[in-house]
Amino acid sequence: MKWARVTIAWLESRSGLGAFIKPLMSHRVPASAKWWYVFGSATLMFFVIQVVTGVCLATVYAPSAAEAWASLRYIDSEVPAGWLIRAIHGWSSNAMVVMMAIHGLQVFLHASYKYPRELNWITGVFLLLVVLGLAFTGQVMRWDQDAYWGLGIGASIVDRVPLIGSQMRDLVLGGPIIGGETLNRFFALHVFILPGMAIGLLGLHLALIMRHGISEMPRAGERVDPATYTPAYEARMEREGVPFHPDASQRDMVFCGACLIALIVLAAVYGPFGPGAQPDPTLIDTNPRPDYPFMWIFGAVSLLPPSSETVVMLAAPALLVVWLLLVPLLGRAGERAPSRRPGMMLAAALAVIGIASLTWEGMTSPWSPVMDAWSSLPTPGAMVRGRKALEVQGAIVFQYAQCRNCHALDGEGGRRGPELDSIATRMTPEQLTRQVQQGGGNMPAYGKNLSSAQMSALVSFLATLKPSDEAPADIPGALLPLPSR
Ligand code: HEC
Repeated sequence: MKWARVTIAWLESRSGLGAFIKPLMSHRVPASAKWWYVFGSATLMFFVIQVVTGVCLATVYAPSAAEAWASLRYIDSEVPAGWLIRAIHGWSSNAMVVMMAIHGLQVFLHASYKYPRELNWITGVFLLLVVLGLAFTGQVMRWDQDAYWGLGIGASIVDRVPLIGSQMRDLVLGGPIIGGETLNRFFALHVFILPGMAIGLLGLHLALIMRHGISEMPRAGERVDPATYTPAYEARMEREGVPFHPDASQRDMVFCGACLIALIVLAAVYGPFGPGAQPDPTLIDTNPRPDYPFMWIFGAVSLLPPSSETVVMLAAPALLVVWLLLVPLLGRAGERAPSRRPGMMLAAALAVIGIASLTWEGMTSPWSPVMDAWSSLPTPGAMVRGRKALEVQGAIVFQYAQCRNCHALDGEGGRRGPELDSIATRMTPEQLTRQVQQGGGNMPAYGKNLSSAQMSALVSFLATLKPSDEAPADIPGALLPLPSR
């Protein structure tokens, strides 16, 4: 045993790890901090689970548009316990968002963000954004119908940003359309950039908690005064505080243990999320839904009149974030007790009720979004009925290449390019081929993205787009004089 003691003593003298950890464990926390304070620890636990299971998944997952979906099926069916790890990763992600929301709500209700803990709250708001980013990019990793759809909506929101919208969209998607590069970008975000930011912010968040201590339970009539708060708090902790370990940490451990058991049960019983149907915008009766953290946005958009969509979608989240960031700065002093802050309580209640009912709306409403900048609407029935097989295939390519993002058919679809309802009266198949291959005038070139079989199907479909009583621009091979131009 001597060598063990010597090794430990050597490690301690060189690293100082023990000296670093000891004050973390023994720092004094308010004795009144009871079960209200366990939610932050549980959020942290879920984050650690995400990192561990995420690393496991990354060893098998193939981040390429052609293979992602199949690699998930492979993890589910071939890799030992792969399905369980995927299930835990998925459930823990939702649990983390929920737990973080509860943690934030508790801090808000108790006004723990007041002096001197303003920055704790602000780092928390950024953590919230990063974690939502992780949830969104994680949904894209599934590369299924829901992921594809979620990206479409996300892209259309980004696209509406004034002036730099389309550049931002190209940056996010890796081009004007959702393709292979899109998945690579989201993979980089999901496994490198956002987790790196989360870990950095988390370190800061925890360091700030150590620096300022945990807030006491609020009492009506006890005002926070920045001039006197810190010395008074420290004196009270000396007198009435209890060491974090084991007094508070045992409650954390019990709660985290219960959460862990619930998580494993949920994961084992309900299994992993998706992957749903393979991404295929040609499926007309798809009923895609985003993951739960975004369901309320989905619900909100479904209720908005299309004319207000752009303003609301861009302004509402930005205003919400700005408001959250300002909360501790505008309300840094004064009463903390919920009973003395009726306005804030009303705001919290409205937010909870609003998000809950919009989530419900999102889960239950059938919805076909009408988006100017994004459209995976089905091709109008009249344009495929009675067509030849090749032409119908062309309609599928038209959907798959997302031409409808920019081109309307029958009045619905994007408005960046001209409506294509009667394009066959204006362009010959050769001209159509050239337009699609080479793009131009704000239209992307599809040359490399479409095979020649797809191209000929697409063009034969486009060549049918005309009113039945009008002549096509040119019938190849027919003995008609070429229209003079
Ligand atoms: C990013 C938006 C965008 C996408 C996606 C897009 N287009 Fe276009 N398209 C345009 C624009 C803009 C024009 C007008 C170009 C010009 O004025 O020179 C155009 C022009 C055209 C024209 C000529 C129309 C005319 O009346 O002159 C055809 C045909 C066409 N696109 C077909 C397609 C097809 C097929 C696809 C899918 C493979 C597609 N487009 C995808 C933006 C787009």
